[in-house]
Parts: sequence; C-alpha cells; structure tokens
Amino acid sequence: MKVDSKNKKSQKLWGGRFEEATAASVEAFTESISYDRRLYSYDIMGSKAHATMLAANGLLSNEELTAIIDGLSSIETRIDEGNFAFKSELEDIHMNIEKALIDDIGPAGAKLHSGRSRNDQVALDFRLYLRDQCDCFMLLLDEARRAVVSLARKYMGQVMPGYTHTQRAQPVLISHHMMAYYEMFGRDGERIADCRKRINISPLGAAAMAGTGLPIDREMVADLLGFDGVTANSMDTAGDRDFAIEFLSCCTMIQLHLSRLSEELVLWSSQEFAFVTIADKFCTGSSIMPQKKNPDIPELIRGKSGRVVGSLMSLITLTKGLPLTYNRDLQEDKEPVFDAVDTVSASLSIMAEMLANLSFNSQRLEEATKTGFMTATDLADYLVLHNVPFREAHGIVGRAVAVCIEKGCELTELSLEQIREFSPVIDKDVFEVLSVEGSVNSRISTGGTATLRVEEAVQAAEKQMGIVGD
Ligand code: ARG
Repeated sequence: MKVDSKNKKSQKLWGGRFEEATAASVEAFTESISYDRRLYSYDIMGSKAHATMLAANGLLSNEELTAIIDGLSSIETRIDEGNFAFKSELEDIHMNIEKALIDDIGPAGAKLHSGRSRNDQVALDFRLYLRDQCDCFMLLLDEARRAVVSLARKYMGQVMPGYTHTQRAQPVLISHHMMAYYEMFGRDGERIADCRKRINISPLGAAAMAGTGLPIDREMVADLLGFDGVTANSMDTAGDRDFAIEFLSCCTMIQLHLSRLSEELVLWSSQEFAFVTIADKFCTGSSIMPQKKNPDIPELIRGKSGRVVGSLMSLITLTKGLPLTYNRDLQEDKEPVFDAVDTVSASLSIMAEMLANLSFNSQRLEEATKTGFMTATDLADYLVLHNVPFREAHGIVGRAVAVCIEKGCELTELSLEQIREFSPVIDKDVFEVLSVEGSVNSRISTGGTATLRVEEAVQAAEKQMGIVGD
C-alpha cells in the first residue's frame, strides 16, 4: 500500500504530538474495528455510565450529560440499523464511537474520555460482553440438559452395553448413559457461573494503568453497570486477561463434552454398531455414493473442538511473558474469544436439536447386552456374597469365561451342573444374577445403573429443569 503522509498532520484523536499522518499500511495492520465492532453496545453502555458518573462529580454539566447520552443513543441506533460508517483509520470501536460523538455534539463529546483510558475501557467492554455470554451459555447448557433428560425419560428401563476400553463391559440403562452427559453439562454450567463472578468486577477507573487524579467514583459506575464490585489494583486491571482465559477454558470443557458425545453418536450410527438412528434432516448424503447417510453434525462438532482448544492456546500464549500492564498484544485477545463463543453456542444448540431427533434402536441394544459375558462381574460378586474372596472369585469366573469361549456359548447357556463345576457355592439363583436385567437392577449403589437409581436421577433432573414428568 502506498504511504502518502507528507505534509499531512495526524488527524487522530491521539495525534497531537505527531508531525506525520499514520502510514496506510500501519492503519491496516493495527486496526481492530473489523472485529471489535461486535462490542459496540457494551462500549456505549459503559460510556453512558461513565458520563453519568462524571456529571455526578462535577466534571460534566447536566446539559453536557444529556447531549452525551442522547448522542450515544443515536449512534447506537445508527449502528443497530446498519447506518454507521466504521472507519479503520479510527482503529477501534472506542475511537469510532467517540469521534462520531464529537462530530455530532461538539465540545461536550470531547469531555467524555476524562478520567478514563482505552485500556480500562476495552477491559470494561470485554467484561460486559463476556458477562452476557456467560448468561447465554447457561441457557444453552440447560437446553442441552433438557434434551438429554427427555431421551433418558423416553428410554427408561431399556438396556445397552456399557463399555470400558471400547470393549463391552457391563450392561447399563440407556438412560444412565445419557444422564452422564446431564452431569457433564451441569458441571459446565457451574464452571461458567463461577467464572462469571470474576468477570463481573468493574475495571473502569484503572485508567491507563495507574488510576486517575480526577475526582471519579468507581463504585458508582460499577453499580450503574450491575457489577459486583471494582478491581483492586489499577496495574493488574490494565493488563489482566485471566477472566478471558478462564472463560475460554470453560468453553473448551463444554466443547470437549460435546465432542465426546459426538464421537459416540458417530460410532453408534455406523452400521457396525447400529445403536442409534439420527433423523434424515440431521444427516447429509455423499456426492458419489448414493447409499450413504453421514453423521456430519456430530463430526463437525467433534472437529470444531480443535478451534476452541486453539483459541484457549492462543490466549494463553498471548499473555505468557507480557510485562505489566497493557501492551498492544492484548488486542489479539478478541478474535479467539469471539470465535469460541460462536463455535460453542452453535454446537450446543445444534446438539440439543439433534438429540431431539435421535432414536435408539432398543432391540439391537438389548441383543448386544446378551453377548460378551457382560454379567461376568455379577457372577464374581455372587461368589463374594457366598464368602469367596474377590480375587479368588475373579479367577473362578475367568476360568468359566475361558471354557465358554472354547464351547462357543455364553455363561447363561451353561447348565447348573456345568457352572457348579467352577464352585460348589453356586446355586440355581445364579441365573437371575447372570441375566441382564438382574445385573442392571442389582447395581443400586448411589450413582449406579439400577432402574431404581436412574429413575430417581431422572426425576431429580426433571424437577431441576422444570420438566413435568410423565
Ligand atoms: N483496540 C485496543 C485493544 O483492543 C484498545 C486499547 C488500545 N489502547 C492503547 N493504549 N492503544 O486492545
């Protein structure tokens, strides 16, 4: 790009000490308005509160305050309606709005920035924005939880294989498996709520980084904006992005949970498993293989975890080794956060929608529990209840399984005589223990898969989510 700066004094709001206009290439390289315009409503909200406080402390007259508030409202309307010309030569959202205000209302507009710096202003906008995102995420997580609970309710009492190492392990209820995600999304919500506490502290008044000598009232601004308090150290405040890193780590955890669920849905919808059917409208076809029905939604959710983890890594790397306080590097904090917000909210809401369009192939799932010696642990527990030490019981059942593998049958297919050969303590009540239903319903320990426990868990969840049970 051509640099045409000769004999042209800087027109910037900060241009007083500059002899030359900024090079066009520098403007293009340093601007953030192309993405931080997303913060406009928060910038305006913050400026209105700041102006109100300035007037209350004698730094603005009432007329000036009214002019500023009205001016800011009209700028907001213009931006809302797409009638505002953002200028990259004005760098960022803060200066685009401030310059427009000065152009619109004159000298009163030029007083707005008293006692404030863009360093505390950008921290304010970012915190206000993230506070709203926390609230949105909590709603979206609840939606996902509700979708999980309604599946758990729909398939209550039906069984499927539970896995460890992707090997059939023990039979469980479909509802128990789905309710595992209810717990994960619940913890995600708690983490967001906790992160919100640290976001919701007002940075305004830290000014450039050392505070200000002007008579400002930080607590008043904090109150006006619904913050829970004000930050304690101006230097920390100007350079702090912990709250954004924490937010991204919450985002990452949500996306990881979504990704694990997605991975299961991809596996389960394959012909090899055929455990679930994802409705046609949530799948796509292949451009070459007419028979294909692909689980693109869970695949993409799984794939998008890469960018969310990447956003977290960017911000961590960005802040590592930064000296106090504000450094321009920090301008790079916004795009990863915006991208993570968009990605995680889209993934959460499409997941909830997809779950509502998912059906389990119950019969196939039940059949799958009947092979693979999934009740072998129950037999070992049976022996333990008959006073056989667990390690010995484990060995006995292992030998029984080996014999079954040789015979090509399941444990349930052995006769009482055959099974008693492994241990004389075994009696005919063993067959109840070896049945899938008996196995599932015996697991009544807190958090276990017995229908009794899962029903309790689902009822508690329905209550928590405000869902009226059947
Ligand atoms: N656009 C800047 C950012 O996003 C605003 C703060 C600029 N502060 C400064 N002293 N240049 O970080």
